[in-house]
Formats: sequence, C-alpha cells, structure tokens
Amino acid sequence: MLTSLWLLLGLAVPVQGSYFSISCPSRRHCQRALLSNNDVLLHCNASGAQWHFIFLQNKAIWVYDPSRTSNTETMPDGSLLIRSPLSSQTGFYSCWDSGGRKVVQYDIDFQDVESLHITHRDLGQKPLQNETLSLGGRELVFTHWETWQDCNRCGEPGERKRLGYCYVEESPEKPMPCWLYLGDVKLWSSRMRPEMQVESCHVPCTPLSVGYATFDDYELSEKSESAWLTCPLGSIYRPILWEANSTPLTWKGQLSGQDVNTVLDTSSGGSRLQVFQGAIYECFLQQELVARFNPKSKLDILASLSTEDWKAQKSKADRVLKGLKLMLLLAPVLGLLGVLFKLFRPSRGRRRDQLLVVK
Ligand SMILES: *[C@@H]1O[C@H](CO)[C@@H](O)[C@H](O)[C@H]1NC(C)=O
Ligand SMILES: *[C@@H]1O[C@H](CO)[C@@H](O)[C@H](O)[C@H]1NC(C)=O
Repeated sequence: MLTSLWLLLGLAVPVQGSYFSISCPSRRHCQRALLSNNDVLLHCNASGAQWHFIFLQNKAIWVYDPSRTSNTETMPDGSLLIRSPLSSQTGFYSCWDSGGRKVVQYDIDFQDVESLHITHRDLGQKPLQNETLSLGGRELVFTHWETWQDCNRCGEPGERKRLGYCYVEESPEKPMPCWLYLGDVKLWSSRMRPEMQVESCHVPCTPLSVGYATFDDYELSEKSESAWLTCPLGSIYRPILWEANSTPLTWKGQLSGQDVNTVLDTSSGGSRLQVFQGAIYECFLQQELVARFNPKSKLDILASLSTEDWKAQKSKADRVLKGLKLMLLLAPVLGLLGVLFKLFRPSRGRRRDQLLVVK
C-alpha cells in the first residue's frame, strides 16, 4: 500500500531524485565502487539507448535486453535503473546509441553490503587498517572513503555517515575497486569489505522547503512480534533518521547495544527498521519527514492532533487536496480511497512541513 501510495505521490511531487544516480561524461569510461542492495541509476544521454552488460563472475555473459535481467530497467531517457543490485552484478555496463556507437561505459563494483564493516567514531571504534596481499606482486588493500553525507537532523544533535569502498593499489597511480581488480579470481580476505563510519553532528536548520510525507500503519505479527518498516526512497547513500515517539534512534544506540526495541537494517543504511514495540515511528530523509507509521490499534491518534494546528493549515491542505484530486483524475485506476488530511507540526525548528495523510 505504502509503495503504491508513494509512487502516486512521486508522480506529482518530484521531491529529490528518487534514485542514487551516477553519471559519466559522454564517450568516457568510468569506474565506480557501489554497494549491493541499494538502487542506483546509471546515466546515459542517448535516445533509443541499448545497454550491454558483462558480469565479471560469469565471464562474458552479454545481456542485450535489460528486461532479461529482472532487476534492471532502461528508463525513457536512456538511463539504466538497477534495483537492489547483487554483488554478482559487478562488471561492465555499456550504453550504445541507436546508431551503434558506444556512448558511455561504467565499470561497477557492487561490493557486498552484507559484509559492511560499521564503526562509530564516538564509540572509539576504528575502521579497517591497510593491509597488503600478495597476488603476485604486493598489492595494498585500503578503504577509499566517500565524503560525509549530510547530518540526518538539524537544530539538534544528529548523526552522519560516510561510506568506504574496498580498493586495491598495485601502483600508487592506479587504485581499483577490489572486485574489479580481482575479476573472476576467487580470493577471500577478511580485509576485503566495504565500510560505513558514523559520527555525531550538529548543524543549524536551513529555511523550509516543502516536502510531502506518506502515512501508513503496521501490525506487530503474533509470531515474530516484530514488524519491518521501510522509509520511502531511503537508501544507504542518503541521510536517514528514524524517530520512535519523537525520540531519535541512533547508530550509536544500536552499536553500543542500548537500543534493543528497534534494529536499523545495515544493508539499507537504516532505510528499513525492525520494530518490536508499538510506537509512532517517523522517518526523515535529508532532514525532511517522509513517512509516519502508526501501530494499527492506535489509529485514533489522529484524533489527538491539535485542532488548532489543523485549522491553521486548512487552507494549505485544501490546495494539496485539489492537487491530489487532479492526480486522481489523471490516474483513475490507482484505486485510492479515503480521506485526506494534512497535518502540520512546526516543532523544534525541524523541517517538518506538509504532511499529506492518505488512508
Ligand atoms: C544530451 O545529448 C544531446 C544530443 O547529443 C546534447 O545536445 C545534450 O547537451 C546532452 N545532454 C547532456 C546533459 O549531456
Ligand atoms: C592506506 O593506504 C592509502 C592508499 O595508499 C593511503 O592513502 C592511506 O593514507 C593509508 N592509510 C594508512 C593508515 O596508512
């Protein structure tokens, strides 16, 4: 339900680009390390683009038709969307135009997110050390760190993370992502892992921007007594914050073993949250509220919202309502039922903006 809802909203509200996108100048050849399990978009500026893949593990398997690889899709502008890539999809991705010319090639190392080494600076945890391998020469294995992502909260202490990829350096001029370097050579080393490092941060809030959020509920299943919540458009490449009853859930709390009622899923950078207790869970992407989840039994939480706030925002709500009606006219098959509310909580200086509630 949430997914279709989000897609619907996404049509009308191009928030931030939905996917983590990679680009490379035309006629060039770019090398990148990325993580498995998190969607990426490879840009190709060509009409009638055709993609060819060679996956390194399978040695020269060519796929001309992305629809034969179930998690890839060529977008109308020629870009290639890869949903939940597997580490076995490490390889060469080339885009050709309708005249049969190669427009761009990406060599992508999808490093296995399941082996992610996570450390928190404030807990004194150390990232992996450099190590030398001997595969013939003396190859140095090191972590190539990306820049820090934005702080996941503003106006109050938050956390930020950065990703680090496994690289091999044979000579100082030419470091390469580990598995592109290895090709189909099978080698296991406990050093060869991607990393994620977290630290605390404190940034001021910047002026409001309009964001839209979805509203959903969840049920703790009898058997497992837990539920998984997914932050729409969340990804390991983006700053994400979860709050339970307005209390932030931090990596520090999780890594130090203090938070036991929730689990941030590491393979999605915390986009998915496992919960064991009924509470109102909210998820923020780039400091903006994008989703709120209520326990099923507490749907009447709506009633407790301040009527003052509601009235104050009613005119804006009407505008949103109009927009949504228009969307419904445009998309009559989407079978969206119900009442639309709009909530507003300008609390604590955070960029909590328009909350569009659809049930
Ligand atoms: C895309 O290709 C067209 C035609 O070759 C060119 O005019 C345009 O500038 C390109 N756009 C980008 C963003 O590179
Ligand atoms: C590890 O190796 C990289 C690449 O040569 C280098 O930039 C970095 O400074 C090294 N780190 C340490 C702690 O020696």
